[in-house]
Amino acid sequence: MTTPLLTIGVVGAGTMGRGIVQLFAQAGHRVHCFDALPGASAKAIDHVAGMIGRGVEKGRITAEQFARIQERMHACEEVGQLRDCDVVVEAIVEDLEVKRKLFRELEAVVGENTVLASNTSSLTVADIAAACARPQQVAGLHFFNPVPLMKVAEVIAAVRTSQQTVETLKAITEGAGHRAVVTADQPGFLINHAGRGLYTEGLRIVEEQVASPSDVDDVLREAMGFRMGPFELLDLTGLDVSSKVMASIYEQFQQEPRFRPSSLVAPRVAAGLFGRKSGEGWYRYDADGKKATAPERVKTEFRAGIAVWIDPQATGAAALRELAVDAGARIAADGSGADLAIMQPWGHDATSSALQLGLDAARCVALDPMTPLSLRRTVMLTASTKPAARDAAVGLFGSDGVPVTLINDSAGFIAQRVMATIVNIACNIAQRGIASVADLEDAVPLGLGYPRGPLAWGDQIGGSRILDILRAQQEATGDPRYRPSPWLVRRAALGLPLVTPEAAR
Ligand code: NAI
Repeated sequence: MTTPLLTIGVVGAGTMGRGIVQLFAQAGHRVHCFDALPGASAKAIDHVAGMIGRGVEKGRITAEQFARIQERMHACEEVGQLRDCDVVVEAIVEDLEVKRKLFRELEAVVGENTVLASNTSSLTVADIAAACARPQQVAGLHFFNPVPLMKVAEVIAAVRTSQQTVETLKAITEGAGHRAVVTADQPGFLINHAGRGLYTEGLRIVEEQVASPSDVDDVLREAMGFRMGPFELLDLTGLDVSSKVMASIYEQFQQEPRFRPSSLVAPRVAAGLFGRKSGEGWYRYDADGKKATAPERVKTEFRAGIAVWIDPQATGAAALRELAVDAGARIAADGSGADLAIMQPWGHDATSSALQLGLDAARCVALDPMTPLSLRRTVMLTASTKPAARDAAVGLFGSDGVPVTLINDSAGFIAQRVMATIVNIACNIAQRGIASVADLEDAVPLGLGYPRGPLAWGDQIGGSRILDILRAQQEATGDPRYRPSPWLVRRAALGLPLVTPEAAR
């Protein structure tokens, strides 16, 4: 998309403001930067020039191009200097009253066609727009840190925002090489809303003593392709910050059970276990900020000759039989006589699966069928699995060198629970029209770093399978957080994909 070159104002010369100045100056716009702190805007322009100047050293831009970009960046010492701006992006302190005051001041100095955008991450844009005489020209433009590298921005259309305003912000964002996604003025907008599931379900798994934080992270990172697990992410952001976001999105959604925060969090915040910045969170960090390595788990050897029964209905039955034979197991024809019985339930816990199959739960374990057998294997115990059966299972599943995670009984394993939650929340975003399916699918990998869009991921797993997992969890726990979105229920019933055809690519 080619965009006319504009004059863009950036108010607030902190972390985000600097990134926004850099993005738009590099895209060819004239950029005026203003900060309430005297001298701060000039310092920011120097900083940005330093960042862009590195491109000259690395041969990415010529000295001449650099000089032209520098000429386009101006430090302002008063709001009035923003009078010629076509668009002003605000990135000041996250305080509603301060932002409202600034927007009123801006409206008084800029032309009547100027678009005013806020980079707020948690306020309702309509609350800011309500302070203005021209709310149709006010919107959110939410970037992510670091702005030049995080190649997505949310254009937030508040209730009175005009289509023209949305189009202007989309054009300048896409013209600068970022993907602009349009989202409704709803809690967490699009990306932070879609990212809730990873944290809430991860915390719930730990809260229920199903697995440790590092087990949850290992499974999601190694077997599902997340760049980081929820606890690593919480340690990076800081639990003091994340706990407020979790609580605020839950409250803003009128205490929607899907976003209910965990009671594990408050005592940890009180104790100062914020994460990397305080040296300890869910993990410990050394003086260089490196994560302390977890002690190796005790490995058990598989004793050849043990009778192993594998549920013939199991998703990976053939591969599991091969693994067991290679490890020296005797394959039992019948589960009741085996030393170890292996099941692969979807959504159900190991205890109820054993009972349903009429097996002795003391000799049963379950293996997560969702995670690829070659990456990391999650083994779930029933409430009565004996140590002998547990050790045999750990020995067998680790016999070819693939890492094993041992967890306690849970309706849905780690991966099933977290994936079903993420897909269900994404379905509800689509159902509520918070964003288009195409925008949702592009925004999540760009903004959250997930390996794919959540609905396409749901399609890969299977919409009806996701529905089965949620229903089994709902039945086992009685918790309304697992109630499936109508988007999922209807599409699964009709055998339709979760990604609508016009958004598929
Ligand atoms: P920051 O604290 O680094 O910078 C804020 C700047 O605004 C400071 O330089 C301050 O002097 C200036 N300022 C404060 N009040 C002002 C006023 N009335 N007029 C002019 N300048 C004023 O803050 P940061 O992190 O850059 O955040 C800015 C906004 O962006 C906030 O609304 C925040 O919620 C949002 N945001 C922050 C992200 C982040 O990762 N830091 C990500 C996405 C959004």
